[in-house]
Amino acid sequence: MKKILVLDFGSQYSALIVKAYRKLNIYAELIRYDTPLKDIASQNVKGIVLSGGPLSVSKKDSLYCDVKALQKIAPVFGICYGMQMIAHQWGAELSFETHREYGINTIEWAEPLVSTIPKKHKVWMSHGDSIIKLPSQLKVLAYSNKGTEKEIPVVISANNLLAVQYHPEVLNTEYGNDLLKYFAEDICNIDHVWTPDSREQEVLHAIKNTVGKNEKVLCALSGGVDSSVLGYALSKSLSKEQVYYFFVDTGMLRKNEFTEVLEIYKKMGLNVHGVNYSNLFIKKLKGVSDPERKRKIIGQTFISVFEKEASHFKNIQYLAQGTLYSDVIESSTISSVSEVIKSHHNVGGLPENFNFKLLEPFNKIFKDEVRQLGENLKIDKSILYRHPFPGPGLAIRIIGEVTLKKIEILQNCDEIFIKSLKETGLYSKIWQAFCVLLPIQSVGVQGDSRTYKFVLALRAVTSEDGMTARSYHFDPEVLESISTKITNEVPEVSRIVYDISNKPPSTIEWE
Ligand code: XMP
Repeated sequence: MKKILVLDFGSQYSALIVKAYRKLNIYAELIRYDTPLKDIASQNVKGIVLSGGPLSVSKKDSLYCDVKALQKIAPVFGICYGMQMIAHQWGAELSFETHREYGINTIEWAEPLVSTIPKKHKVWMSHGDSIIKLPSQLKVLAYSNKGTEKEIPVVISANNLLAVQYHPEVLNTEYGNDLLKYFAEDICNIDHVWTPDSREQEVLHAIKNTVGKNEKVLCALSGGVDSSVLGYALSKSLSKEQVYYFFVDTGMLRKNEFTEVLEIYKKMGLNVHGVNYSNLFIKKLKGVSDPERKRKIIGQTFISVFEKEASHFKNIQYLAQGTLYSDVIESSTISSVSEVIKSHHNVGGLPENFNFKLLEPFNKIFKDEVRQLGENLKIDKSILYRHPFPGPGLAIRIIGEVTLKKIEILQNCDEIFIKSLKETGLYSKIWQAFCVLLPIQSVGVQGDSRTYKFVLALRAVTSEDGMTARSYHFDPEVLESISTKITNEVPEVSRIVYDISNKPPSTIEWE
């Protein structure tokens, strides 16, 4: 497929560039900044974007790629650090840390590249280094702080080359999309091939082409969107005899989730076996408080369960997982520079040796794209629009050690919260909502007596793919009534707090 490759220099916004292109039906992928040139050239690359990054080109250990060599493969678009690197390699004069710009600023074009972009508009800046003087091969198209002594070039171009100091991929930048689109359409001449139909074809083909006629697949479903769409896609691509579906009760699901989800799968026509391993998971987590250890233990326990289940059947070679592109990116198998945020149980939590080959047809697809695929496949909306639920389940929403009692408390609170959201019509407006049981107790007063009970946090966010998220702005009365309901009905909890943080800087889950 013709694509735009985004070379990741470690910016927190790198994946947003990929997302912005995907929204334009243009296929884009994120790769490491130091991917060998021959690996880039061997792909069907129509354009190369150099992302931003936290480092300075002035430093000895700054990240590097040979821009002129990349230009021989496809046109190059540098963003922030990408622009600094281009300017540096072209011999421009740069200033380090004297012309810093963070946050919103206005830029002024001599002549905007696209008719939809006005001469002056606001952009999101985040840079310490700036260009002071450019060699004649690079043309300045726009400045920030125009007419002042802090005037700096912020859009530059040359043949086959465009670079901007600001972040066109960030929502706070006006007309950012127009510029990304201009690079892809006008400079790279790329086709708009990344559509829901083409994704469906890609995924169904990938499954058919990977799994041989005599091979079989184990598909563990979780009740969530990704594995459910995956299960359905498998049923469309392979014969009934080739796929063994099952759903594990880890003991850390939501209340009644196990039976409700099995019922939904039955309606979808999937022959899913429900298996109960709750004692095993809870035993393995005994005494464990560290969230990363919890994740690793749960990942390993899942694999041992899969192996045990597979042993009942002959010839199962594949384990199908609904691993998403965002899981892969956040587990940092791509990004060389950004820290590993967490090991998603279905990526970083896998043991080194296990008896399956992995089948992960969504590992280049974002969650909203999986939902669209589900719509294309006509999967019931009640499955597609369920709030995401993490594989490690309530274990990562109980901060500290997991016990049966804490699971029960959290399940009861969660049931009230979600039911209230459904009753008030808010469930579908919120991307994900859940409760977190905190490892602290706090003083309360109930029925004239002093109490000392658990503190519960409520979390509700709006998002598109879970990579960035905003805390949902509730009507205070709704929140208050939910809080009252929980403290009235769950005797172990006497204080409720609402999490108003966004991602970044926070993550959605607490852990
Ligand atoms: P964070 O907490 O990283 O979560 O902002 C982003 C989204 O991913 C979900 N999540 C997971 N999903 N396995 C999953 O299938 C996991 O290990 C996992 N960890 C987090 C989280 O619920 C949110 O929707």
